Amino acid sequence: MKINTFEEYKAAYKKSVETPELFWAEVAENFTWQKKWDRVLDWDFEEPNTKWFLNAKFNITENAIDRHLPEKANKTAFIWEPNAVEANQRVITYQNLHDEVCKVANTLKLLGVKKGDRVCIYMPMIPETVFAMLACARIGAVHSVVFAGFSSSALAGRIQDSDCKVVLTTDGAYRGVKDIPIKAVVDEAIETCSSVEKVLVYKHTNTAITINKAKDVIWQEVVPNASSTCEPELMDSEDVLFILYTSGSTGKPKGVVHTCGGYMVYTTYTFNNVFQIDTTKDSKDLFWCTADVGWITGHSYIAYGPLLAGASSVIFEGVPTFPDAGRFWKVIDKHQVTHFYTAPTAIRALEAAGSGFVTPYKLDSLKVIGSVGEPINEEAWHWYNNNIGKGKCPLVDTWWQTETGGILISALAGVTPTKPSFATLPLPGIQPLLVDDKGNEIFGNNVEGNLCIKFPWPSIIRTTYGDHKRCKEAYFSTYKGLYFTGDGCRRDENGFYRITGRVDDVMNVSGHRIGTAEVESAINMHADVVESAVVAYPHDIKGQGIYAYIIAPSTTKNHDNLRKEILAEVTKIIGPIAKPDKIQIVSGLPKTRSGKIMRRILRKVAEGELTSLGDTSTLLDPSVVDEIIAGRL
Ligand code: PRX
Repeated sequence: MKINTFEEYKAAYKKSVETPELFWAEVAENFTWQKKWDRVLDWDFEEPNTKWFLNAKFNITENAIDRHLPEKANKTAFIWEPNAVEANQRVITYQNLHDEVCKVANTLKLLGVKKGDRVCIYMPMIPETVFAMLACARIGAVHSVVFAGFSSSALAGRIQDSDCKVVLTTDGAYRGVKDIPIKAVVDEAIETCSSVEKVLVYKHTNTAITINKAKDVIWQEVVPNASSTCEPELMDSEDVLFILYTSGSTGKPKGVVHTCGGYMVYTTYTFNNVFQIDTTKDSKDLFWCTADVGWITGHSYIAYGPLLAGASSVIFEGVPTFPDAGRFWKVIDKHQVTHFYTAPTAIRALEAAGSGFVTPYKLDSLKVIGSVGEPINEEAWHWYNNNIGKGKCPLVDTWWQTETGGILISALAGVTPTKPSFATLPLPGIQPLLVDDKGNEIFGNNVEGNLCIKFPWPSIIRTTYGDHKRCKEAYFSTYKGLYFTGDGCRRDENGFYRITGRVDDVMNVSGHRIGTAEVESAINMHADVVESAVVAYPHDIKGQGIYAYIIAPSTTKNHDNLRKEILAEVTKIIGPIAKPDKIQIVSGLPKTRSGKIMRRILRKVAEGELTSLGDTSTLLDPSVVDEIIAGRL
């Protein structure tokens, strides 16, 4: 299933479009199934209803762990690099991984977790977090990993939405100089979560914690005593593997649902082909994806893809700038990382820190470098390519989404061409198209439009947890019969795709997806906020920054105080990642006569594009625009 040449790519792509079922059946043959599928695909984008490998039975962990053991028991599955430079690294072989996952799986059973139950994982970047995910999969429980930077109220909302029975967490987390109390966040969250019966706490930082005797169980007191064998639960291909919450343009975050079979096949296929890693037993290839497992990138290219492929990879606990902005490069040299996958926001921040942080390191182990999460601007692309890849490593710009489960548009390293700031070509099985606002397909090259996909791939979103209608409305209703990505896109003269960014009310701040509506509702919780409107604006490091326009009562005199309180409110309700970069207090917002906020105008002002505001005469009160421009931050 590995593509080795551009010609092979073209042939694979052609086959995947002409005979998709045959194509994916051949890929799926490479896995261990207890029972093969009756049919490869059943789909309908109107419902939407997509099923892959129907009635096949298997367990994803058997494929990610057990099937490698005869050959690779002693191969490194993970090297864990801790936050502190002087702390000890850990090496976890495939055999260790098997034993640890089984122990956690048996512990979950002991805590009453059964097939189909939801388990929330709120943990930092330590190997135990991956053990926890795989342990759920081992026993057929559904994991819902919540990024450990979200606040207690954001965590509570996610636990409640999927009725999680058990929460897995740690006492604390290290991030750079910070020692963050994680368990305390869980304690506060579960006060409003009646579904939670037990909390399994891994002691990582030895931060003091409050123990609730009725619910809390200390990991180190039970997991080591559990058996290191646990029969994998037999799962149907379409049984739910996990839920991952992500922001949309409206309302609260949606629980994106992925199922076992298609996700396994697609993440492995894309991992192998995009990164071109040698996964043989004695290979020294070492993959490092710097994402947090709390996001889809961490799910697909830390926890599942690399293990399913039998590769070795790095899990890094820390941050790129601790103890200094050379940390990534230090870790690459230390472990001789060969394949490095990170986000443009990190690249831009490290570029800004100065090349003095790069030059002390050789970086000569690197073979492939990758980018994910947001558009990579040309300058950052070249800096990354020249200073890190030294001009000799293919740079794969991988475009995909939480909903797509795996990479959809990307070069295949060293196999297909790259082009600065272009994700380039669709992977086999992916049929992208551009449409105009009315949904008419835009044919030919050198064109721009809204990016849709017209045919399912194995790891496409199945539903949004507990609310299928929302899935239909968000992705399958804007353009009939198509999956709409929410992204704008250009196709160049050679048919290469360049993603230009979101065309909906979703922001991408440092590679984190945040809905404007979510931030507005958090801001509106403050008693002194009458109304607010949030838009994104270009930010040198973060890609996009958050600009909030706020109407406060005229009696509120201390605006600095109000700003501080609003930042605290957003941190409390969502988490620090959603804090606005700029808060402008205004006396009114530009609204149409029907009361709709004209976000286009607010966006232009935030971007500093004051000459192209368009017609403002139809506004209820055109004079607010002048005031907003005058007070622009
Ligand atoms: O706008 C696109 C942007 O990130 C969005 C998906 O965010 P999320 O679900 O959090 O997943 C991020 C990691 C896969 C997309 O709709 N995006 C992601 N990768 C790229 C990108 N934009 C441009 N180029 C990319 N390579």
